Amino acid sequence: MALLKSNKVISSLGNISPALGLLSTRYSSWWAGVQMGPPDPILGVTEAFKRDTNPKKMNLGVGAYRDDQGKPFVLSCVRKAEALIASKQMDKEYLPIGGLAEFSKSCAQLALGADNEVLKSGRSITVQTISGTGSLRVGANFLARFHQGPHDVYLPKPSWGNHTPIFRDAGMQLKAYRYYDPSTCGFDFKGALEDISNIPEKSVILLHACAHNPTGVDPRPEQWKEIADIVKKRNLLVFFDMAYQGFASGDIDRDAWAVRHFIEKGSNIVLSQSFAKNMGLYGERVGGFTVVCGDAEEAKRVESQLKILIRPMYSNPPMNGARIAATILNTPDLRSLWLEEVHGMANRIIKMREQLVAGLQKHGSSHNWQHVIDQIGMFCFTGLKPEQVERLTKEFSIYMTKDGRISMAGVSSGNVGYLAEAIHAVTK
Ligand SMILES: Cc1ncc(COP(=O)(O)O)c(C=O)c1O
Repeated sequence: MALLKSNKVISSLGNISPALGLLSTRYSSWWAGVQMGPPDPILGVTEAFKRDTNPKKMNLGVGAYRDDQGKPFVLSCVRKAEALIASKQMDKEYLPIGGLAEFSKSCAQLALGADNEVLKSGRSITVQTISGTGSLRVGANFLARFHQGPHDVYLPKPSWGNHTPIFRDAGMQLKAYRYYDPSTCGFDFKGALEDISNIPEKSVILLHACAHNPTGVDPRPEQWKEIADIVKKRNLLVFFDMAYQGFASGDIDRDAWAVRHFIEKGSNIVLSQSFAKNMGLYGERVGGFTVVCGDAEEAKRVESQLKILIRPMYSNPPMNGARIAATILNTPDLRSLWLEEVHGMANRIIKMREQLVAGLQKHGSSHNWQHVIDQIGMFCFTGLKPEQVERLTKEFSIYMTKDGRISMAGVSSGNVGYLAEAIHAVTK
């Protein structure tokens, strides 16, 4: 104010009247017609959780691993890889459009198995992407531009909430196949097979490779085999989303079994990978997108087009996380430490599932909670109804998405008893 009153300023204002004119038009905005969008359902849960002052409150909405003290967990192999990278004093030049070559190579090897014929013959291409979401988006855009069959993507019902907008924004149409059976809280195998066998030829089918989000329900190997046969018969293009390799069973090879089986049966799949959960590299945004092609020459052509697609999107991916992941995968000591740690995370979640069910039984729950143990990965589709979820939030300060999905990663030995007591109270 003092400044505004000074003669110097006032006289200089006289000279900049065009700027004042600009100020006066500030209110006629370009964006007046933009409507308020709905909040993201999961981030909305977190906001409500933050406002709650109950010391016993639990946030079971977010899909990020927590240790048994409920704290975010940075893997020791990651800390060690970071130290190793820092000691090398490397440059910060741009990566190539397709990312860090040594990362992409190890990323594909991790998914397919190092001695996979696809990798040996060079008939696949893997590019580094901005985590799993970026990979799905690059893949969706690639399909929208080059897929010769129908531009329909069949998602399991339900699927991860972001699948629909990712494919829709890329210009693909969304369809669904039956997957989850609410009556058993398990896999609707019959329904899935029936629906898949009616999908028009050459359409795209999205499959969660392991630890299906949001249900935690995966097909068993013999069920995968039948799905692979039908998919092959219908000549469908399979888009595997593998966001949880190692995180489901604790065993990276076991979790990649379906992906490898489909390839072995002759499906030239496309594959999205994320290192957010299995290496805890959430914010580093490390992922990969792989296209399995007919031969090496086709893979080269596909690679050239992926680069053309990526260049105007984000030019090239970030390097830090890719360096960390590549260092872990390619340094024998760090790799073994990682395998131990990923096993430890998966095991802690499996233990929490068992303790939750034991707690419900201890409180005298007469319901069958076996599905809580049978489901796998970070999430548990409890079967709780929206009104029961609402009571859990209102009466017990336990936050989760309305569909009754809980992130098992947010459950610890310290709060599993409280959770069991609360779930029993709203379900008895
Ligand atoms: C099924 C599925 N796909 C992909 C992702 C991608 O995650 P991000 O982009 O963090 O790697 C997630 C994360 O929750 C997921 O659950």
